[in-house]
Amino acid sequence: MRRAVCPGSFDPVTNGHLDIVRRAASLFDEVVVAVGVNVSKSRLFTADERLSMLQQGIAGLGNVRVEGFSGLITTYCREADAVAIVKGLRSGTDFDYELQMAQMNAHLTGVETVFLPADPAYGFVSSSLVKEVASYGGDVSALLPDFVLGPLTEKLAQRAAE
Ligand code: PNS
Repeated sequence: MRRAVCPGSFDPVTNGHLDIVRRAASLFDEVVVAVGVNVSKSRLFTADERLSMLQQGIAGLGNVRVEGFSGLITTYCREADAVAIVKGLRSGTDFDYELQMAQMNAHLTGVETVFLPADPAYGFVSSSLVKEVASYGGDVSALLPDFVLGPLTEKLAQRAAE
């Protein structure tokens, strides 16, 4: 049984994230999508909201589950008995950032990191950019699942009214 972990903050989950999770699910026996619940960046969505959107995103994928994690991802992987971390790479910038984390994680516990090249259709998609574009009224509907679009619009409207 080979289990992999797809970690992230998923604030919110995008079609690019879900593409990576689906592809990881085809490579490993089991995949755990690990949602960082106390990572330092300030978040638009609460941990519960991010977990709930991911639960909807993995519907139909029988070998995938979603869990929250806090602390080091290496500790989480050890507790989950995962042999690998799976990350998507959109660009050389992603690679530079992810390589350092992969090497640190390998140094800490020996866990491997597997990089999947982003589908070019999602190469420009990030949660941060989607939030920025949506906050100015730009159309991001092709980049997010339907069940994220509504909550994103509502959340941004709430923020703007504060
Ligand atoms: O969606 P993000 O922001 O790229 O997710 C980053 C995340 C949560 C995967 C990363 O920050 C992480 O693994 N955080 C847990 C704390 C940790 O282990 N830090 C050391 C990494 S070398």
